[in-house]
Amino acid sequence: EETGKSGYDHYMLKEIHEQPRALRQCLQERVDELSGTVDLGDDIADAVQNAESIQLVACGTSYHAALYAAELFRSQGVPAQAFVASEYVTSPPPHDDDTLVVGVTQSGETADTLSALRDAQRRGVDTLAVTNVVGSTAARECDGVLYIRSGPEIGVAATKTFSAQVLAVNMVAAVMGNGSASHEFVSALRDLPGQVQTVLDETNAREVAERFVDSDAYFFIGRGYDYPVAMEGALKMKEISYKHAEGFPAGELKHGPLALVTANTPVFAVVTGETGSEKTVGNVKEVEARDAPVVAVTDGRTDVERYADEVLEVPETDPRLAPVLANVQLQLVSYHVAKQLGRNIDKPRNLAKSVTVE
Ligand code: AGP
Repeated sequence: EETGKSGYDHYMLKEIHEQPRALRQCLQERVDELSGTVDLGDDIADAVQNAESIQLVACGTSYHAALYAAELFRSQGVPAQAFVASEYVTSPPPHDDDTLVVGVTQSGETADTLSALRDAQRRGVDTLAVTNVVGSTAARECDGVLYIRSGPEIGVAATKTFSAQVLAVNMVAAVMGNGSASHEFVSALRDLPGQVQTVLDETNAREVAERFVDSDAYFFIGRGYDYPVAMEGALKMKEISYKHAEGFPAGELKHGPLALVTANTPVFAVVTGETGSEKTVGNVKEVEARDAPVVAVTDGRTDVERYADEVLEVPETDPRLAPVLANVQLQLVSYHVAKQLGRNIDKPRNLAKSVTVE
């Protein structure tokens, strides 16, 4: 088993460090920088170009990637919504002839997601699986499949597969627009693995973890593309540290959760890109006024650092890709909190890598 971890203490840390390679594999032979084109094959192109609306179904971390994807597709003018798979099954939303249902699932075996996809198929809706596992049930049963090519993920906490899911849906979005992307965006895709590499220096994240390891709870806020990252940051923290953590859309904090904020509940503010970021900085000021420590995860496009006790920097990139970088910082913080608490990081209590019951 030690060999499997390649010298890392845990599979989770190994897989966090494998992200640059996972992202390169995901892009390989799909993105042509010279022509500025993205090619995922004719089947996927037909499916997504014919879709008048998209419903995404997923669970857990994959649901956060689905939330991100829905926002991305909407920004392209395609009505899109993410559903927690178990809720989709309980209350299936209306669809029309040109609806595409996309199942986002690392394992391709999650019972709730499979059930939602089967429900869609029974109603005659086309399905596409975005998955990591070749030949998995989702891959076999859906009308189309897009592999994220992350390589095996052993740690129960999903890390590299989230980053690759986000990258994969960006390629889908490019294909929706007939496969052509701006040269700037294609360059940003190409540069992303290298930028993730620069974030993998763990020093700052470890220091933040050390400073706040004894906190009562952790809150995570973000707006727009940063909102799914806030949700994912909180899920990762609860999953492996067993500490109370919640993610919120930044604007929602003042509608209730702010009552929970104290000097012993750090608030991680994910602030990347430009859209709405100034408003998130406003929310950070509200938190600061309640004496809560603020950890800003930021690409430096705003002055959020002025109101933060700690800053986790990420390099500047296209606003659509910055969330991947911010999320890596949060993965590292959760990992180091859990490590300092002596948790069973690769196999947290009560959890399984793949949940095969509804
Ligand atoms: C992520 O860290 C969790 N282990 C869990 O939420 C997971 O993402 C969820 O069970 C969905 O799994 P899937 O992607 O294999 O469908």
